[in-house]
Amino acid sequence: MGKSVLLIIGGGIAAYKSLELIRLLKTRGIGVRAIMTKAAAEFVTPLSVASLSGEKVHSALFNLTDEVEMGHIELSRSADLVVVVPATADLMAKMAQGLANDLASTTALATDKPVLIAPAMNVRMWQHAATQRNLATLETDGIHVVGPNEGDMACGEFGPGRMAEPVEILAAIEVLLASAPKPLAGRKILITAGPTREPIDPVRYISNHSSGKQGYALAEAAVRMGADVTLVSGPVSLPKPFGVKIIDVQTADEMLAACEKSLPADGAIFAAAVADWKVAHSAANKIKKQKSGEVPTLTFVENPDILKTIATGKMRPQIVVGFAAETEKVIEHAKAKLEKKSCDLIIANDVSEGVFGTNRNTVHLVGKSGVEDWPQLSKAEVANRIMAHLAGLLK
Ligand code: CTP
Repeated sequence: MGKSVLLIIGGGIAAYKSLELIRLLKTRGIGVRAIMTKAAAEFVTPLSVASLSGEKVHSALFNLTDEVEMGHIELSRSADLVVVVPATADLMAKMAQGLANDLASTTALATDKPVLIAPAMNVRMWQHAATQRNLATLETDGIHVVGPNEGDMACGEFGPGRMAEPVEILAAIEVLLASAPKPLAGRKILITAGPTREPIDPVRYISNHSSGKQGYALAEAAVRMGADVTLVSGPVSLPKPFGVKIIDVQTADEMLAACEKSLPADGAIFAAAVADWKVAHSAANKIKKQKSGEVPTLTFVENPDILKTIATGKMRPQIVVGFAAETEKVIEHAKAKLEKKSCDLIIANDVSEGVFGTNRNTVHLVGKSGVEDWPQLSKAEVANRIMAHLAGLLK
């Protein structure tokens, strides 16, 4: 039987995003039954929710017809996961206190299923000690939390409190619903992703085209397989994967320091496109144009090789996987990197064909015992297969 979620829609401006979430869930074949608070009906209509979910919408606790058809306790157990979207400050407070004075809060209290909340509220409300206390209580109670993000708010302020986007909530739901085996349970995995930025002066930098997509997909796959994942990420514009500890960095030096701090780990995958060089002395102030038309000369020094440093270091993870971005002699260069950087495995890809920023990748697995050529796959599928391979190597 297909999976299903019970959506509790709270009364906040972000409630409109619940409609998109329902649509996304339905495209994934996930069933949706919804409860709306009284306030939620001020933001989205029960008719929209019913039309998109294809199910009757529940809202009143004391409704004789509803209770005969499906009691509130049964409703709370009817799905594999309960998702509160948006989780308003009021709903979070009620859940943290165990209050049950309407159908939404009663259901959240009565359920024996995992619960995911997507908080959304004004930045001051989010930062208020009371909300933070409630959040801590909910987390201690084992409630899963996705978001909130930082950004512009409907009220005109800026900061944390914006609800996670429907695609991010969907990704979190998929992790929680995954009944797949968890071959990486109990394993600590370190992943690097994205480009690095090496400053020239306060406004300019050297970087590359890496989008971070492959590294982020690896982190998501590892979490789905039960791993405890730390993702050291260069600057990218990707949503933060659910359940992953992210350390944001800019430069190669910062990336190395963050990786070293994240050890020990059972496995490490270095998917970041680290700048090989940095400017020897980045200027403290913006470099100005010269009147005479002279151009500045930049002196470069080599960046640390993060992969090699970790792979040859005292705290080397049991399995170390590197990437090789090549534009020619792909396998030959990858084999050389396997040796030179003391890796157990190199994922080689030909980046001359426009891999950067796309969703697909053609890779070759270069190990000590030989080469495996994989067909062109989505980056998500490449990630699944690499993680399954890593799980096999860790056994
Ligand atoms: N890498 C790293 N630190 C660096 C450079 C690379 O950790 N300073 C890692 C990358 O994350 C990748 C692997 O090393 O896993 C190979 O990266 P790649 O850019 O293909 O190789 P380079 O060592 O930079 O060699 P070249 O640029 O000469 O191909």
